[in-house]
Amino acid sequence: MSDIVVGLDIGTSNVRVVVASYTEDGNLQVVGVGTSPSTGLKKGVVLNIESTKQAINAAVESAELMSGHEINCCYTAIGGNQIESINQKGFVAVEHQGGEITNSDVERVIEAACSIQIPPDRKILHVLPSTYTVDGNEGIKDPRSMIAWRLETEVLIVTVAVTTAQNLIRSINQAGYDVKNLMLKTLAASRSIITKEERELGAVLIDLGGGTTDVLVLADDAPVCTCSIPVGGQMVTKDISIVKGISFDTAEKIKLSAGCCWEDYIDKYEEVLIPGVGGRPPEAISRKELCSIIQPRMEEIFTLVNEKIQVQTSSKKNVGNIVLCGGGSLMPGVVELAAHVFGTSAVRIGNPLKMGGMIEECYSPEFATATGIVLSFAEEARKQPEKNRYSPVEAKQNNGGIFKKLGDYLKEFF
Ligand SMILES: Nc1ncnc2c1ncn2[C@@H]1O[C@H](COP(=O)(O)OP(=O)(O)OP(=O)(O)O)[C@@H](O)[C@H]1O
Ligand SMILES: [Mg+2]
Repeated sequence: MSDIVVGLDIGTSNVRVVVASYTEDGNLQVVGVGTSPSTGLKKGVVLNIESTKQAINAAVESAELMSGHEINCCYTAIGGNQIESINQKGFVAVEHQGGEITNSDVERVIEAACSIQIPPDRKILHVLPSTYTVDGNEGIKDPRSMIAWRLETEVLIVTVAVTTAQNLIRSINQAGYDVKNLMLKTLAASRSIITKEERELGAVLIDLGGGTTDVLVLADDAPVCTCSIPVGGQMVTKDISIVKGISFDTAEKIKLSAGCCWEDYIDKYEEVLIPGVGGRPPEAISRKELCSIIQPRMEEIFTLVNEKIQVQTSSKKNVGNIVLCGGGSLMPGVVELAAHVFGTSAVRIGNPLKMGGMIEECYSPEFATATGIVLSFAEEARKQPEKNRYSPVEAKQNNGGIFKKLGDYLKEFF
């Protein structure tokens, strides 16, 4: 196995692969990408292993061709509404009362926060600690070495339906690749598109995919909420196809070439040609009419996201910056529409942060998850290169918090 890190994002519309390798001076650089249309998933869940396997093979083979590396294993991610999350609090008395808080105290307080019953059909994917409270003083990012009596924390526990994860992993295995580790898709994307400043100020990542819209809310440099709406770009295409009486594929082409979700951007004389079906002559419609089909659905998606966030983060502070990714974020007018629905001008498209050797194709919000998977696991790989090459890595939370072994979780899925 060569010294490469492979991120595989299996989506409802597309499978995407990013291959990165280390340069001699230790920098990570992207050396290959691959994309293939995906047909075996519905709303982010694998329903047809055979067609998912074929899409994985096609995407990985083109990434192999571009990178010149043979790919045997990968890291992947999971999302959609099979993911659930819950905020839990825990507190412990510091072991050396009135003494220093140690790693073991931090581990114990997170364990205490995790002492909830998980249904047998679900498994924990991540335990993500936010800030700590030390003797009543809130908002401490790393409590170790502080002198205290009592330690509290709040964690976000992310769980996944076991069979959904198993089917995803099975598709990859049947395509001929080992899965070294698995993570939450939006957490991966956040690594690649959210800046340090945004993480601290508070940010909402919205991944506008084909089958689902997945959301991750970050506050005080930590994830505090994750949710998913079972509606995505495919639903927008379906709307066009139904209203104009054309096939899904034709509607998709029209959406990609002339779609817009912010009416003010369209000149009233602009027209789009809708091909005829069954001998019906083609019809020229105004682009504004096309927009009147797209905009309400996109607005509905943002409204649902906003409502979910309000419910799930009611106790949290202002969550701030909205960062959009996924194919749907390429729709003209999406920033303006999101700004309108969320009532903020702090909205932007999340292009992946530049890595060395970034191939132009993956500097796109559609590649946020795949590049994020690479970034998430490559950091660990740099610290423990041998371990990363031959066995599941241990994922460590970025805030110096606790270190749940993702590899251990992964074993439970096999
Ligand atoms: N330029 C564009 N304008 C509008 N929509 C676009 C554009 N490019 C892609 N899309 C839409 O983005 C969607 C696919 O996005 P993406 O590839 O991120 O989804 P996915 O990751 O496969 O799906 P999911 O994350 O839901 O499982 C499709 O519905 C497609 O129509
Ligand atoms: Mg996706």
